[in-house]
Amino acid sequence: MIEGYPEIAKDVAALKATPNLVDWATERRTFSWDEQWKGIDRPGGMLNKAYECVDRHANGARANKTAIIWQSAAGEIERYSYLDFKKQSNKAANALRSLGIKKGERVFILADRIPELYFAVFGTLKIGAITAPLFSAFGPEPIKERVSRAEGCTIITTPKLLPKVNEIRSQLPSLRHVIVIAHREGKPVAAGDIAWSDIVGPASEEFEIEPTGPDDWSIMHFTSGTTGLPKGAAHVHNAIVSHYATGKYVLDFHEDDIYWCTADPGWVTGTSYGMFAPFSNGVTSLIDEGGFGARRWFENIQKHKVTVWYTAPTAIRLLMKAGTDIPKSFDLSSLRYAMSVGEPLNPEGVVWGIEAFGLPFHDNWWQTETGAIMCANYPSMPIRPGSMGRPFPGVDVVIVDEQGKEITEPMVEGALVCKPGWPSMFRTYWNDQERYDSRFKNGWYYTGDKAKRDEDGYIWFVGRDDDVINTSGHLVSPFEVESVMIEHAAVAEAGVIGKPDAIAMEVVKAFVTLNDGFEKTDALMRDLNRHARARLGPAVAPKEIEVIDILPKTRSGKIMRRLLKARELGLPEGDTSTLEED
Ligand code: PRX
Repeated sequence: MIEGYPEIAKDVAALKATPNLVDWATERRTFSWDEQWKGIDRPGGMLNKAYECVDRHANGARANKTAIIWQSAAGEIERYSYLDFKKQSNKAANALRSLGIKKGERVFILADRIPELYFAVFGTLKIGAITAPLFSAFGPEPIKERVSRAEGCTIITTPKLLPKVNEIRSQLPSLRHVIVIAHREGKPVAAGDIAWSDIVGPASEEFEIEPTGPDDWSIMHFTSGTTGLPKGAAHVHNAIVSHYATGKYVLDFHEDDIYWCTADPGWVTGTSYGMFAPFSNGVTSLIDEGGFGARRWFENIQKHKVTVWYTAPTAIRLLMKAGTDIPKSFDLSSLRYAMSVGEPLNPEGVVWGIEAFGLPFHDNWWQTETGAIMCANYPSMPIRPGSMGRPFPGVDVVIVDEQGKEITEPMVEGALVCKPGWPSMFRTYWNDQERYDSRFKNGWYYTGDKAKRDEDGYIWFVGRDDDVINTSGHLVSPFEVESVMIEHAAVAEAGVIGKPDAIAMEVVKAFVTLNDGFEKTDALMRDLNRHARARLGPAVAPKEIEVIDILPKTRSGKIMRRLLKARELGLPEGDTSTLEED
């Protein structure tokens, strides 16, 4: 346990709702996925996420229950019942099918958090196609890379974001349709593009869902690795039982909950826990189009009477910075449970929740590849601040040594691995099966994280085992940034690292060497920054660029990012025996 942060005990009888998972140890012994499948309908053997999340509620007792409370950036509210949701996603499905989009094709969505994004995701699932939401703060380059790698046939976007698509669409031979959701912005749609309202507006509200099965593709999210460009981790409809079960046991959904997940659907938390977990459990979700703001966020909880809140460490650290006066000026009494994911949550963050609104943050851990939560702090379980909790009852998450043997001694660092076969396990990296296979060794799936486990089975995150950068909970591939930096005429080579940051955990920092004839001037530095932001977008572009004389490289020519990082931080350089001599 981290000194100074004693365990936070739980008085289960005093909780506002009896937790669905009453005792972790008992559940761990008795848990059965077969039992969880009983909460999923599978009519006629069909398994489709859209049916399990939307239609089954719309066809039953929850038809008029609010599925989505949507709040625009400007504060307008729209509400959609499960029946409305079914009709709207059916219309989207009919529209997409009318364009000839087939089962298994990739449909990208680049939009802010507007209702049509949600209708498009579920409409795509209903036709059996693969939905691939992209983060709206991506620049043209990350968009191009992702659509091209997955051979996407369609991009659904908005007039505000369309210029980024227009910049690269001629380089995307697989792209057949660009659909523009223009009515909210009151903008015309150019000839050659398709107006969402033209095809969805007149479409029928009835739709027969493509009879997908458990192993059919459903969603793809791109995630980063040490080498190469981001890979499309592809998931199947089978994952829904994990979303349902973790929704019940980790997010502790109860029928009357108003749930708010602050993550954007461009990242996996925004779909697995912004869509699939809450909707498969039939709860009401708040979706806020607006961005972060301490006041806005606490006001949201007060105004919408949020009961369950799932957010991220960077946001929590920003809230801490804004101080406890803000939360104390709102009535947050509706809130009964708060969680965090995406990066390590420092113990200060866990306990700050108690100070600010009387509840600790519950940290949990998972990845794009795992599809669903694998390790968690549960409402009924004491919290050890700084730990990501214990494995979900139906999955095996352990620490192994270099031979792949489980480490049983407490607090010994090793690789964090999962036993393959959990229901929401990703099934490939799209068009890169080799890389997928490389993640499985010694009978384990290697997560790329290092961790330790204490004597009571709580897991403690140590760090990444690779060069992937985690900035504000978003993973960034150094290679993706390096590739764009060297496109600039002045740049000879680039090496990119994650530089520790008090708020964002890490920020992207690029080291570049210059081609002959270029000098480090203020004008050049401005131009390098402009280039990076224009090509990569604010979510990926480096926050810092530094010109150096030589990039450290191995004799085989690989940039030694580890060394760049050690030098940046003034740390020992470690083993430099493979360093290229000049
Ligand atoms: O390194 C871990 C970190 O984020 C990675 C997964 O990121 P991504 O695939 O984008 O999935 C986001 C959905 C959670 C992990 O391999 N990470 C995630 N949660 C935690 C974490 N690091 C420490 N503590 C966590 N709770």
